[in-house]
Amino acid sequence: MGMIQQFERLEQRAPDGVRTAVWSSLRVPHFVVRRKVVSDYLASHTVRKLQVGCGGNILSGWLNSDLNPVRSMGVYLANLQEAREASGAAESARPALRPFRDVIYLDATKTLPFPNNTFDYVFSEHMIEHIPYQAAMGLIKEIYRVVKPGGRVRISTPDLSFLINLYTQDKSDLQLRYITWATDSFLKGTKLPDALSDADTFVINNFVRNWGHQFIYDQKTLWNAFAQCGFSEIERCNPGVSVDENLRGIESHGRRISDDFSQLESIVVEALKPAVAQRRSSTTGEVAAQAPVEVASGSNQL
Ligand SMILES: C[S@@+](CC[C@H](N)C(=O)[O-])C[C@H]1O[C@@H](n2cnc3c(N)ncnc32)[C@H](O)[C@@H]1O
Repeated sequence: MGMIQQFERLEQRAPDGVRTAVWSSLRVPHFVVRRKVVSDYLASHTVRKLQVGCGGNILSGWLNSDLNPVRSMGVYLANLQEAREASGAAESARPALRPFRDVIYLDATKTLPFPNNTFDYVFSEHMIEHIPYQAAMGLIKEIYRVVKPGGRVRISTPDLSFLINLYTQDKSDLQLRYITWATDSFLKGTKLPDALSDADTFVINNFVRNWGHQFIYDQKTLWNAFAQCGFSEIERCNPGVSVDENLRGIESHGRRISDDFSQLESIVVEALKPAVAQRRSSTTGEVAAQAPVEVASGSNQL
């Protein structure tokens, strides 16, 4: 068993109160230094890129953030170790971590701690499904506020239509391989039906309820959320693919679960904050000019 799986098993066994207390206390030093780390990042980068909920995918040149930065660094280091062992290489080309600097503490359900129009890019991969739907809508609004006019956002999350398609009678080879992998990996202790294709019900239920998932999106729900906040040029992309080099090859989900499973599971959306602000009516669909977004008054505290 890898280091990450051992750690996750230990974490799952800990009582809720203990787990919450440990993670909360580990956030404190990151919260204390955040203002300085952010101001240093902004001062030293002309192209400013924010990642929300980075987990172990700590990207160079980005301001990486997570609810649990210590956990992110642990996952990053464990991934590095596993990659070294797999390749037999003593050293990795990836740079060492700088504690407190390479991942900041940020709670995506709260007001983002940045002024309006700060970032050229915002990226979030497989994070919004971990926060309630209303909080995710608030986050997309907040992203709109902190992205510069002409800036872009890229969000990746599981696709509800992948789960619904998994339930069809005629399953593809890929879907059957996915069900085999999901049952072997996540449903070990469960008494499953004899026929592999009948395990779809168990895989779907597990996916909706496991890992702290709160809401599984589909294309129209994400589109509407982006459009109502004022984003334009909303487009679906394949994982890893973008017309913008700053948003290309930044996903990590495929490295963890394989590229074809990641492609099957995920919906990846990019959108632009137009130079002239506009907002789409949720009832008529009409686009109207929009008043400038106000500076947020709240703060992203512990
Ligand atoms: C499934 S992991 C994905 C990690 C990474 N983006 C990736 O794709 O490898 C979900 C991440 O979202 C983070 N997260 C969950 N709730 C959050 C919140 N309210 N604010 C910020 N990050 C959050 C978790 O700590 C975790 O690192």
